[in-house]
Amino acid sequence: GKYRVVSTKSMPGTRWIRLLTDNDCRLEICTEQKTILSVDDILALIGDRCDGVIGQLTEDWGDVLFSALKRAGGTAFSNMAVGYNNVDVEAANRNGIAVGNTPGVLTETTAELAASLTLSAARRIVEADQFMRAGLYDGWLPHLFVGNLLKGQTVGVIGAGRIGSAYARMMIEGFKMNLIYYDLYQATRLEKFVTAYGQFLKANGEEPVTWKRAATMEDVLREADVISLHPVLDKTTYHLINPERLAIMKKEAVLVNASRGPVIDEVALVEHLKANPMFRVGLDVFEDEPYMKPGLADMKNAVVVPHIASASKWTREGMATLTALNVLGKIKGYPVWGNPNQVEPFLDENSTPPR
Ligand code: GLV
Ligand code: GLV
Repeated sequence: GKYRVVSTKSMPGTRWIRLLTDNDCRLEICTEQKTILSVDDILALIGDRCDGVIGQLTEDWGDVLFSALKRAGGTAFSNMAVGYNNVDVEAANRNGIAVGNTPGVLTETTAELAASLTLSAARRIVEADQFMRAGLYDGWLPHLFVGNLLKGQTVGVIGAGRIGSAYARMMIEGFKMNLIYYDLYQATRLEKFVTAYGQFLKANGEEPVTWKRAATMEDVLREADVISLHPVLDKTTYHLINPERLAIMKKEAVLVNASRGPVIDEVALVEHLKANPMFRVGLDVFEDEPYMKPGLADMKNAVVVPHIASASKWTREGMATLTALNVLGKIKGYPVWGNPNQVEPFLDENSTPPR
């Protein structure tokens, strides 16, 4: 192989490996056993000759790593994720390194996990499972694990991009929920879907579903029975869910987060869960991953899973393939390799990436 490409982790499937090795690359997959590599570990991997790196969302890709990659002759980096808050894109570009991400292939898988968390929280599935396994079930009772009915309630989506829209559609189509959403951009296709589905239901003598684009995030928080967070994590969305915003949510609301942990002030969330036993959350991500804030693990009204939203076999293999295409695309030059998912730096703190 003419080019040296490093992957900081082994990834599912073999297609990504073949893509690289069939196309002039020597691939080196890090065999280090610890889960999260430090900057020093990655510096050692880059060494003094490296054309491209496939990295992970747990790694801190800033100027130190990108200038080392530049010195090693590198031009390409791909994150194995759609989110790239762990990557300083400006530092990369300053060092002549293109940054790729892996959108698209994880949209439905991630939305399905958010839907799973919604149902698990609304119907208290984990609590009930633990009760069962503990041998506590001694007969049917009218009040045993009573939860929330979704049908006819309102689902609130904050960030109606690809994932948020796919999630909204699942909840509307599957459970006939009404939609309220907040996004800087109009979710035109989603609105059209809800309108058409509402007309279909009406034509069949059923209650139609409705949609509303909220003028403020607060409107969503106040009106929705289920709220799912799908924003990009940046300075403007850090602690988007804070004590003031928790306070305006319905006491029996369900809050779901499969985006990034720091979008929620997790200490405030734990306090809110303690004070409001009927308020339920489903969390895939945490503020100090892999840790949970003190008290969260004890809350019966929280369902917690370890950042597995994109973890379906098809999606993880697809993400791995896209990382290989991203790196190859840059190393070998466009347009031979089509259109890798190159990320643009944020223009200013009020801008969101194009979708
Ligand atoms: C996973 O969290 C991703 O951003 O793809
Ligand atoms: C990511 O795929 C998004 O929601 O824009």
